[in-house]
Amino acid sequence: MKLHCVVVTLAMSHVAAAESTTVPLNITALSSRAGYSVIECWQLSSVPAAYMAAVNYAVGNTTVATWSRIEPRTTVGEAWAPHIQLSVVLNGLIRITAPAPVADGPDASMCLQDHPGRKERPDTRVFYAMPGTLRSSVLIAADLKSASTLAGHFTEFPSDEPTVLIQIPFVDDKAPAQTVLHEGPCL
Ligand SMILES: *[C@@H]1O[C@H](CO)[C@@H](O)[C@H](O)[C@H]1NC(C)=O
Ligand SMILES: *[C@@H]1O[C@H](CO)[C@@H](O)[C@H](O)[C@H]1NC(C)=O
Repeated sequence: MKLHCVVVTLAMSHVAAAESTTVPLNITALSSRAGYSVIECWQLSSVPAAYMAAVNYAVGNTTVATWSRIEPRTTVGEAWAPHIQLSVVLNGLIRITAPAPVADGPDASMCLQDHPGRKERPDTRVFYAMPGTLRSSVLIAADLKSASTLAGHFTEFPSDEPTVLIQIPFVDDKAPAQTVLHEGPCL
């Protein structure tokens, strides 16, 4: 009886998978290009499968998840991904600028222009990570310091509330298979 049920479930999920939408998953990512951290929209190669009454996307093999709480109105400054990881924002707001502004101005946030001496510097983009929508609340951080050698990203937590996020590193710093849809955050 138990075996029979398993077979029926598999058969049903196979049918559901065949009929399910194959809309790909797009996630805003911090990546590295020519030594600079950049914000990109990644389209995961993961093909969704329908089971457990859901459309399921494999995101990758992950290690120990961390729940993090950042105090209101915190400016971290220039930062890099500590690991290649998925971050899910549960509360508050993260303002991410990449590449990090050139730090020789009186106010880094007013210094978003390209550095005149570095023509290869990518355009500066801003992403507001916050709860609310799939697009806004999930981020892949993949700009390791070893790759973003010229500039990392710039991180601020401007909210009046604490920012709470879950950080889920990928095994061996292996990002999920993807293609880059476009520069800047996913639209
Ligand atoms: C991902 O982006 C593609 C191309 O812009 C779009 O067709 C698709 O609907 C997006 N996926 C989701 C889940 O929004
Ligand atoms: C996850 O780990 C399993 C077992 O080691 C491996 O077969 C699979 O390819 C890995 N998946 C990814 C996306 O790395």
